[in-house]
Amino acid sequence: MPGPGYYWVGKEEEEEVLDVIRSKYLFRYGDSNDPAFKKKVYTLEQEICSKFGIKHTLAVSSGTSALIVAMTAARIGPGDEVIVPGYTFIASISSVIACGAVPVLAEVDESLTLDLTDVEQRISPKTKAILAVHMLGNPCDLDALKDIADKHGIMLIEDAAQAFGGTYKGSYLGTIGKVGIYSFNIFKTMNAGDGGMVVTGDDDLYTTAFSFHDQGHLPNRTGVEVGNRSVIGWNFRMNELTAAFLLAQFRKIDRLKEGLRRLKKRYKDKLQGVDGISFRKINDPGECGTLLTVFLPTKEIADKVCGELGTTTIAHSGWHVYNNMEQILEKKQLTPGPPFRSEEFPTDVKYYKGMLPQTDGILDRAINISIGVIDAGLGAAFGVNPMSTDDEVDTKADTFISTVRKYVS
Ligand SMILES: Cc1ncc(COP(=O)(O)O)c(C=O)c1O
Repeated sequence: MPGPGYYWVGKEEEEEVLDVIRSKYLFRYGDSNDPAFKKKVYTLEQEICSKFGIKHTLAVSSGTSALIVAMTAARIGPGDEVIVPGYTFIASISSVIACGAVPVLAEVDESLTLDLTDVEQRISPKTKAILAVHMLGNPCDLDALKDIADKHGIMLIEDAAQAFGGTYKGSYLGTIGKVGIYSFNIFKTMNAGDGGMVVTGDDDLYTTAFSFHDQGHLPNRTGVEVGNRSVIGWNFRMNELTAAFLLAQFRKIDRLKEGLRRLKKRYKDKLQGVDGISFRKINDPGECGTLLTVFLPTKEIADKVCGELGTTTIAHSGWHVYNNMEQILEKKQLTPGPPFRSEEFPTDVKYYKGMLPQTDGILDRAINISIGVIDAGLGAAFGVNPMSTDDEVDTKADTFISTVRKYVS
């Protein structure tokens, strides 16, 4: 099931993509004097730089490759630890491992983003960075995380895969830490099926990230570069078709966000004051509005309500809860880097079910109601979509309320 960008696909995307197909030229590099070269990737990067007020953007093939490139460029590697929330997508964790570093899982609080006290307790002499994941479009408490990072001399990195277009105190999410990333897969605020981006204000980090994403080449290479390649990289390039589609989506992002926020407010207003229902803490009103997360008084009540509505609590949703990540639990499938050496995973840090009791207690009682992201993997199989009418919102909200009232006395 898709995210908000999917619902906004229209003529604009068609025109942009056709522009590339008609030119027959799909590679991100070309001769800028040749009218057949449409330079969509470059244009996308420049438009996002200018709207987001950030110096550098680098389009890549996915959010996962963006994380790997960003962390490698930030010189995170063997011997380092990165603090990551226990409620996130596996890519936030696997990308640390791909860099050869060790993810240290931390608790989330009722914002479903990193718990500040727990983060600070998990900092060790090996900690190199905090990965702030803006889960479900809700900004982390970035000022406080930045203070912690600065106090300990470590980096703050933003995983804004789920939060493209959201803001914190007026600045775009992703642009506040040392480096940030976005995902453009089909579940995200804007999408092209797949795609990703690295953003940073740091010149050196950008140049290095560019090189890692393209076999060591310098930014915007125009030909064969021999003698200039200072790193061994990969191919995580974005192509012109993907960027063309994203350009059309990007130009709609404000309208898309406004639509989501309006629907979410309407839904939330209906639920306000109902006995037994409380809401996720929102760290900044600049959040994306993709999901409405509510808490019920107990796990038992939450399970019964979900059972009746055909959905699950977040704890039982598939992909984003550390307890459900068999890839890392008991280190069964861990393959350390840099890329994929087979020695034993280089740490005594542990990953086991129930290791984050606060997170478990919160997610057991939490239900995601879809506003813009309809994804059973997020526990958001019940709710509305970005094109829902006010009547549909009201009907769904009434169904939710009457179901809760059956179980909350
Ligand atoms: C928080 C988070 N980080 C990273 C990613 C990885 O993005 P992608 O699927 O584009 O590789 C996702 C994707 O769902 C995500 O939700």
